[in-house]
Amino acid sequence: MAVKFGVIGVGGFSFNRSLPAFLNADHFELAAIMDAVSENVKNASEKFSVPENKCYHNVDDLLADPDVEAVMISTPVHTHAALALKAIESGKHVFSEKPLGRTTAEAEKVVAAADKNRIKLGVGFHLRFHVLHQKAKELIDDGSFGNVNLIRMQNHLNYPEIVGAWRQNPEMSGGGGPSIDVGSHHIDLMCYLTGSPVKEITAVAANQVHKYKVEDISLILLRFENGTLGMMDLSWNIPHRFNVFEVYGSKASLYCEKTVGPFRDPYARLLTGDKIEELTPEYQDTYTIEAEAFARWIEYDEPFLIQGTEGIVNNRLLEKVNEAILTKKTIVV
Ligand SMILES: NC(=O)c1ccc[n+]([C@@H]2O[C@H](COP(=O)([O-])OP(=O)(O)OC[C@H]3O[C@@H](n4cnc5c(N)ncnc54)[C@H](O)[C@@H]3O)[C@@H](O)[C@H]2O)c1
Repeated sequence: MAVKFGVIGVGGFSFNRSLPAFLNADHFELAAIMDAVSENVKNASEKFSVPENKCYHNVDDLLADPDVEAVMISTPVHTHAALALKAIESGKHVFSEKPLGRTTAEAEKVVAAADKNRIKLGVGFHLRFHVLHQKAKELIDDGSFGNVNLIRMQNHLNYPEIVGAWRQNPEMSGGGGPSIDVGSHHIDLMCYLTGSPVKEITAVAANQVHKYKVEDISLILLRFENGTLGMMDLSWNIPHRFNVFEVYGSKASLYCEKTVGPFRDPYARLLTGDKIEELTPEYQDTYTIEAEAFARWIEYDEPFLIQGTEGIVNNRLLEKVNEAILTKKTIVV
């Protein structure tokens, strides 16, 4: 049986990208939508054929709908925690877009409420589900890389100044620009791949092109307790991008392109000794996979890969990234 979801926030991302992908998941059923902006509700109602009596303008009304079993929260970051807490108190399971909170304290509050109310709480770090990231995880875990010395990731795009944009406002974004927005995904993915806690964080940021109050480019370095070093370059000022992802170990190296971003043609090469293997797995939509996995957690109690506590870990590391940028110092975690 499909799980009936209410989607809170039908703006840019859910309207264009995640919701169309969620609808391809076998166990996802769209039961209702809600948005603070009436026009967005109307547009989504037309696009996704949601009947008028299942279109809400107030979150309390959506949460009072007995048909809604779970919610997907896809609103600006500064609203995540308050909406999640309301949903939890109404007895609805919660899937929150990333990061779980604007701060660690917010994330902790949401997780504590979910635990207390026996609510299933998942966080949308969809990059974990990419077929090539899963391949990397498998090869790291089975020892194919030997010691993993270095993981490198890029996430580039161009994001010009927009008046009123919440991502460009540090109060609403959680402190920074790409270091927090796409950075939350990459930090989560690195933690997942290494399976090791972060020991130290170093980061630098700049505004090279766009003059908003958050940075438009950042470099983040992570030292993991198991010795792996992680390195990421994240930007909102590089329009021509490959978004390379690499893993370097003592026994093998993996080079991937286009596993992050709007690409459906990822490419990878695995180098072991003098043997180069092209990896061309079939592309699968990560958002469809995550929605299916979250729904199956509710329906069949199959544990979801990214539960609330991972959201706390991520928020904690994002705070340290902010601190490293502001203080220009290496932060011990
Ligand atoms: N997982 C990913 O790959 C990914 C990609 C993009 C965005 N996101 C996340 O999705 C979320 C939304 O991002 P976006 O780009 O769609 O932003 P957006 O500004 O385009 O859309 C946000 C929507 O939320 C609505 N909204 C704002 N406050 C609300 C409230 N209190 N209650 C109900 N609706 C409210 C807005 O009216 C708007 O329609 C963010 O958390 C972002 O981090 C995730």
